[in-house]
Amino acid sequence: MKRIGVLGYGRRMETVLRNVVQSGRGQVRVEAFYDTSEKTAARIAAANPGIRVCRSVAELVGLDTIDWVFIGSFNAAHRDHAVAALEAGKHVFCEKPVATTRAHCLDILAACRRHPRQSFGVGFVLRYSAFYRQMKQWIDAGRLGELISLEFNETLAPYHGAAMHGNWRRRTAWSGPMILEKCCHDMDILLWLTGSRPARVASFGGLNFFKAKNAHYNDLYPVGPNGYRYYDRGLATGFAVGEEHNITPFNDDKDTVDNQVAILEMENEVRASFHYCMHSAQLERRFYMCGTRGTIRGDVLTGRLEYTPVGWDPQTEVVRPIAGNDHGNAEEPMAHDVVECMLRGTPLPTTAEDGVRAAFVSLALEEARVSGQVVDMRPYWQSLT
Ligand SMILES: NC(=O)c1ccc[n+]([C@@H]2O[C@H](COP(=O)([O-])OP(=O)(O)OC[C@H]3O[C@@H](n4cnc5c(N)ncnc54)[C@H](O)[C@@H]3O)[C@@H](O)[C@H]2O)c1
Repeated sequence: MKRIGVLGYGRRMETVLRNVVQSGRGQVRVEAFYDTSEKTAARIAAANPGIRVCRSVAELVGLDTIDWVFIGSFNAAHRDHAVAALEAGKHVFCEKPVATTRAHCLDILAACRRHPRQSFGVGFVLRYSAFYRQMKQWIDAGRLGELISLEFNETLAPYHGAAMHGNWRRRTAWSGPMILEKCCHDMDILLWLTGSRPARVASFGGLNFFKAKNAHYNDLYPVGPNGYRYYDRGLATGFAVGEEHNITPFNDDKDTVDNQVAILEMENEVRASFHYCMHSAQLERRFYMCGTRGTIRGDVLTGRLEYTPVGWDPQTEVVRPIAGNDHGNAEEPMAHDVVECMLRGTPLPTTAEDGVRAAFVSLALEEARVSGQVVDMRPYWQSLT
C-alpha cells in the first residue's frame, strides 16, 4: 500500500487523484492534505471521510504515514513544496509548471540530486497521450527525413481564457507568466519531438481582451442552457478554482497576458513558430512539421494525425490514435504510469529535468516578450551543467 499526502487539493488534484486511486486498485490511498483555502479544505474533507486535514506544509511532509507528496498548489508555491517534500524523504508528483523562476527550478533540481533514490514526476499529461506517441514514433521512424521547420499552437475558447483571467492565473506572483502556466506542456512536447533545445527565442504578446473596459462583451450573448453568461461559464462550471481568488475575467487586477506569438531556433537548426491566444472561436492545439521526406500535421483536439510523403501524387495517411481531447485522452495512461512508479519503482517518463527544460523555454519566451529582445538561451542551459 502506498499512501499520498497532497499539497493544494484543487480541481487538478481531484482529477489526478481520482484516476491514480482508481488505477491503484486498492494499493494506493490518499491519506492527508494541506490546502490554504478553508473552503477547499472543507469540501475535500467532506468528500473524503477519514482523510487527515493538515494545518501546514511541515505537518504534511513530516507525516510518517505517507510515502508520496502530490503537489497541486498555485505554481509559485511548487518550489517550496517540492523541496520540503524531498527533504522529508518523500517521493513527489508535481503538477506543471515545475516552478515559476529560474532560481526555483534550479533549487528543485538540486534537491532531486541530493535525494536520487526518491522519484520525482511532473504532470506533463500530453506526453502520455497515444496521439503524441504516434507522432513521435513516426518521427523516430524517419518518416519526416530531417525536420526543417514547424509551427505549433494552442488557441483557447474565450470562456476558457476567461477562467484563466478570472482566477489566480491572472497574476505572475501566483502563477508565473501565462506562457509558462498554460503552454509549458507545448514547450515540453516541442523539446521531446525535436530532440533539441532552443538556442535563441523571440516573442511578442500582450493583454488585449480580458480588460475591465471590455466587460460589455459579457452582455453580447444570451445566458446559456447551463444558466451562466458566456464569459462566466469557465469559472462557474469547474475550471480551476483557487476559490478565494475568483473575480470577473474583465478586470485590470492582473499582469499576465492573453495572446502571444513566438519564434524559436533550435540548437539543431530546426526553426519553430508558436501562437497562443485566449479568444478563439476555432480551437486548435496543433503541430505542423515539415521535413526533407515528408510532412506531419496533427491536432490533438480532433485526434486526427496526417502524414504526407514528399513526391509525385503523394497519398496522405490519416490516423486517429485518440478521440479528440485537449489533454490527449491521457489522464488514465498517466495515472497508470504514476501507479507503476509508486508500486514498482518504474521511472516516470516526465522528470524534474523535463519540467525544468520546458520551464526554461517558457521563461526565456517571457524574457523576450518583456525585453523586446532576442534571448540567447545559452546561459539557461549552462546553468544546468
Ligand atoms: N497537467 C495539467 O494538465 C494541469 C491542468 C490544470 C492545472 N494544472 C496545474 O495544477 C495546479 C493546480 O491547478 P488547479 O487548476 O487545480 O487550481 P485550483 O485553484 O483549483 O487548485 C489549487 C489549490 O491549491 C491551493 N493552494 C494554493 N496555494 C497553496 C499553498 N501555498 N499551500 C497549500 N495549498 C495551496 C488552493 O487553495 C487551491 O485549492 C497548478 O500548478 C496548475 O498549473 C495542471
